[in-house]
Amino acid sequence: MRIRRPIVAGNWKLNGSRAVCRSLVAAVGDGLSAQGLGPPVLAAADSRVEVLVCPPFVYLSELAGLVAGHQLKLGAQDVAVEDAGAFTGEVSAPMLRDVGCQYVIVGHSERRALFGDTDERVAGKVIAAVRAGLAPILCVGETLAERDSGQTLAVVRRQLAAVFSALESASLAPAAWRELAVAYEPVWAIGTGRTATPEQAQEVHADIRATAARRDATMSGALRILYGGSVKASNARDLFAMRDIDGGLIGGASLQAAEFVSICKAAAG
Ligand code: 13P
Repeated sequence: MRIRRPIVAGNWKLNGSRAVCRSLVAAVGDGLSAQGLGPPVLAAADSRVEVLVCPPFVYLSELAGLVAGHQLKLGAQDVAVEDAGAFTGEVSAPMLRDVGCQYVIVGHSERRALFGDTDERVAGKVIAAVRAGLAPILCVGETLAERDSGQTLAVVRRQLAAVFSALESASLAPAAWRELAVAYEPVWAIGTGRTATPEQAQEVHADIRATAARRDATMSGALRILYGGSVKASNARDLFAMRDIDGGLIGGASLQAAEFVSICKAAAG
């Protein structure tokens, strides 16, 4: 019996259309039902896995009902630091709540590398999410150069510290700990087909939990730490078998219903 309920989250990134997104949700929902992980199971308070999909912003509203009908959860891929105002192009946390999101991915390495998300901005986004009642999935992870120069744990600790300190300064810490999940996504494993070995991932996951424990020991035991980076049906079971790996954040494989469903099944154990 797992201590923490695993999460499997599909990060659809910049993919899909109205029709593609609708049929993907339906295919995932039907696939989970066929595997005995349908709505009655997913809806149960002690369900063995929590499954969410994170489509592009523009499809969230229209998919919300369909997603809920399958007892899946809805997440966004990013969020603004600010709640409202003159911030052209941004989408705020209260807006995401308003259209039915429960989760939001924050600090994905693509946002950090391509769109200027610093540790400070990421912390601001986590705070905005928590204040609006959204559960943030905080992404952390090192580049290949950082791994090769032995900086992996230092980079991940720095990324965590920025968020943990900001939550404490905003007096949000005890409540926020219950909502927060962390996703360890080594940048060199994202979309490359090169997965971290279960042992490599476990080493970092254990260090994330130890880093969290230095802030709040109770929180660290309940904190769900997902692994992301070239997770597929063929490697999911071995990754999820590791003690501190509590599910996955899935990119490419989440766009193929059968593959994604198999990953969910692996997480359900
Ligand atoms: P891939 O599963 O395509 O490697 O992407 C991982 C990811 O970035 C999920 O957020």
